[in-house]
Amino acid sequence: MTDNDPQTQLVKYLTDVHSIEEQARIQMERAPKLVEGALAEAFQRHLQETESQEQRVRHRLEAHDASPSRLKDAAGQAGGLGMVLFARSQPDTPGKLAMHAFSYEHMEVAAYELLAVAAREAGDEATAALAEAIADEEREMAGRIAAGWDEAVEQALAAVDPDDLGDQLRTYLADVHALEGQSQKLLEKSLELDLPEGLRAALAGHLEETEGHLEAIERRLDDRGAAPSALKDAALRLGALNWGLFFGSQPDTPAKLAGFAYAVENLEVAAYELLLRVARRAGGAETAALAESILAEEEAAAQAVADQWPVAMAVA
Ligand SMILES: [Fe+2]
Ligand SMILES: [Fe+2]
Ligand SMILES: [Fe+2]
Repeated sequence: MTDNDPQTQLVKYLTDVHSIEEQARIQMERAPKLVEGALAEAFQRHLQETESQEQRVRHRLEAHDASPSRLKDAAGQAGGLGMVLFARSQPDTPGKLAMHAFSYEHMEVAAYELLAVAAREAGDEATAALAEAIADEEREMAGRIAAGWDEAVEQALAAVDPDDLGDQLRTYLADVHALEGQSQKLLEKSLELDLPEGLRAALAGHLEETEGHLEAIERRLDDRGAAPSALKDAALRLGALNWGLFFGSQPDTPAKLAGFAYAVENLEVAAYELLLRVARRAGGAETAALAESILAEEEAAAQAVADQWPVAMAVA
């Protein structure tokens, strides 16, 4: 058997999702303590789902005479702690936690959809069915987080004096700027890889949009009188997040890259959902309108990447 035969690939994907669940478990154990209300309940409930997912994946590994990778699981556990520590280090913990959790659920959706394709390729219908069922659970959890954007902003701004809302809005603008900057770098690096044409076109198209987003955000920051250091501070705040750990590994195949890009676009979707709400509260109508229009482009970019999964898998 070669490294690329369907059976070996399937076990690799199963091992990957197992370490993703180990990471998720650490996050779900700690997340409910950092927020309140329905959001805390959503995390609590997803801890139970996550534990069951870990077991179901482990059984499929055992059915293939394989076992979870201790090395990958250990890296996953470290990454899980990373996201929680990152959120805790931010001035608006509930918002940042919800945002990263939303992105993480989408990364899980991508990983399970890719697993389902790999399982079909290897003729393992049981794993394919399990992967689709779990992908649905992850999508539902992402939906529960999305239903809580208002509440996340409420909790994040609870301690903020109404007079300081303008300052907050500048901080949120600087944060999306840092995120767009990271996303631009990831897209540029991705385009250096050997990619199927459809995926390349989706990423290249969004790179152009991303450059436009950066300029538009810079203009809003200028208009709102942000100090030049605001951008540097935001980049430092985001730098506290270890992307490689958060996403399990650096993407090295078109399939993994597609999953990674999908999670990053959804991280931006979440960031603009938060910015939109903070802008409305701070009376920043222009910023709210901008956030709304960029948000639609981020959602479309995420979908364009997801549409390329079958092709990306075929060349994995
Ligand atoms: Fe999961
Ligand atoms: Fe999940
Ligand atoms: Fe984007």
